[in-house]
Amino acid sequence: MKSKFAFSLPMEKPSNFFTLANRVTVPVIGFGTWKLKPGKEAYHAVLTALQSGYLHIDTASVYENEEDVGKAIIDSKIPREQIFLTTKIWNNALTYDDAKLEIEKSLKRLQVDYLDLCLIHWPNPVVIRDKKNAYINRNREVYRAMEEAYREGKIRALGISNFKPHHINALLQTATVIPHVNQIYCSPTDLQEDVIAFNDQYEILTAAYSPLGAGKVLEHPTLKHIAKQYNKSVAQIILNYLLHKGVVPLPRSTNEGRIKQNLDVFDFYLREKDVKALESIRGDFGSAPDPDISKW
Ligand code: A2P
Repeated sequence: MKSKFAFSLPMEKPSNFFTLANRVTVPVIGFGTWKLKPGKEAYHAVLTALQSGYLHIDTASVYENEEDVGKAIIDSKIPREQIFLTTKIWNNALTYDDAKLEIEKSLKRLQVDYLDLCLIHWPNPVVIRDKKNAYINRNREVYRAMEEAYREGKIRALGISNFKPHHINALLQTATVIPHVNQIYCSPTDLQEDVIAFNDQYEILTAAYSPLGAGKVLEHPTLKHIAKQYNKSVAQIILNYLLHKGVVPLPRSTNEGRIKQNLDVFDFYLREKDVKALESIRGDFGSAPDPDISKW
């Protein structure tokens, strides 16, 4: 199964874009910042990524590194309009008013006057889970605040993260703008094809956090075997595979060599038999969290 966003590799460079339903363009590989320590680590990693050619940075208020991301963007001297910047509204925002405030706080911490993409980070916060279906109203209200900011030009595209089809269906009952992006855990060992197919139906672009399975997947023997044949690293095989599927990978690294390596994934095409081998490793080495039973 390939998303309708899928394109054919080889393609030129990371300056290639996916185009969202509202015509906003998204650089096909983003730099992930989850787990980057606030302060020097996050700042240096993001600055290195920007200096290496990434034009798409993914952060979140709960990562507590938005200030560092903002500072790295300024220090990179890359014009703001060339960078695609995503942040996410965390579970502390339960109402329309909370969400309005959170958007303003993120803008301030990032030192920007607009976001390219803003996501509801988690569909079913544990603090309201004892009330059956409370998440439905919470998501609708948070999204309503996001839609308002979208209309005011403070956000260029809207989205969700970790949403499964039942969460999206509930949101679609009241949304006036169909979400443009759904960011999910997506790695060869758990691609969440059902969610990708659902996203696709609504022209929602799928973005992949932890595309390298937070590093764990890299040791998979099948992947190591494939990588050797192409003279590529396992990370490069995975990123090429996700792009081929029409998914935006958001790899993270603190190491300059690996940051650069993760952009150098456009000059080869995986053979059908290797794609099949990649599809056979589902379930090994980690899987997506279930947003309805998580601890947060
Ligand atoms: P490091 O920061 O030392 O490079 P994910 O993007 O799935 O969350 O995975 C992130 C993890 O994968 C980090 O531990 C990172 O470690 C590691 N990593 C990122 N890129 C590569 C690569 N090209 N080769 C090996 N490990 C990588």
